[in-house]
Amino acid sequence: MLQNKQQEIDFFDNLPSDEYNVFTDDANQKIIDTVLRCLALTSGGQIVDLGCGSGIFTQFLQKKGYACIGVDLSHKLLRIGKNQMNTVQFIQADVEALPFADNSVDAIMLSCLLHHLPNPFFCAKEVFRVLKPQGKFVAFDPNRLNPFMYLYRDRSSPFYSSKGVTPNERPVLPNELRNIFASVGFQVKSQFVDGLTYRYVASDTAKGLLPIYNLFERFFFKPFFLNQFRSFVFTIGQKPK
Ligand SMILES: C[S@@+](CC[C@H](N)C(=O)[O-])C[C@H]1O[C@@H](n2cnc3c(N)ncnc32)[C@H](O)[C@@H]1O
Repeated sequence: MLQNKQQEIDFFDNLPSDEYNVFTDDANQKIIDTVLRCLALTSGGQIVDLGCGSGIFTQFLQKKGYACIGVDLSHKLLRIGKNQMNTVQFIQADVEALPFADNSVDAIMLSCLLHHLPNPFFCAKEVFRVLKPQGKFVAFDPNRLNPFMYLYRDRSSPFYSSKGVTPNERPVLPNELRNIFASVGFQVKSQFVDGLTYRYVASDTAKGLLPIYNLFERFFFKPFFLNQFRSFVFTIGQKPK
């Protein structure tokens, strides 16, 4: 199945808010700390943020001293990013056809992007093509093995809500993503992260339940035997020499 690009652009170009920033400040910080630990880059390196939206995470990386390029389909979100940070280069492009030369990019972050792609294989191939040998990528996405992500956001769930999501998106299965990235040549692993509390959710019913969700998210999945059921999976890969 292919991604419907226009549906994706229409959804993000018509968001009512002036930025796309769904996590709490603590969660944003935890995501960036995990990304930087996974990439293990020296400060000053270049990171391309795929699916950057209005650049929430791009900004964090830029402030930490990395040279950042943000890539997204949504004209509106890119415009917001550009207005907030004129030191970051924002490019309107499709992650399935990246506008970079082969073997040219130090590191790539796929920020809450892969679960928007019905078949992440095409993006994985592009990430492999543009990364330098030994270059790393890190992707973070909602984990379909997490009961809350499954119940609220998977279209096979009886409690699925389509409010606030594009028809292209679905929480990911960690092993499926690992297999896809391995199939294009990467050495891949997954890391599971909890404690990623949300600032807001779209559905009115879910809004009322958000404080309970955030409480569970902070504490429930801490024990290591529940590791693979944590809400977010980070997929980390390195291109061989
Ligand atoms: C869930 S939002 C994430 C935004 C931001 N990175 C964040 O985490 O707050 C997903 C983003 O991916 C972008 N996107 C989806 N499909 C894309 C594609 N094929 N090429 C480029 N960007 C895409 C959307 O426009 C949207 O901004």
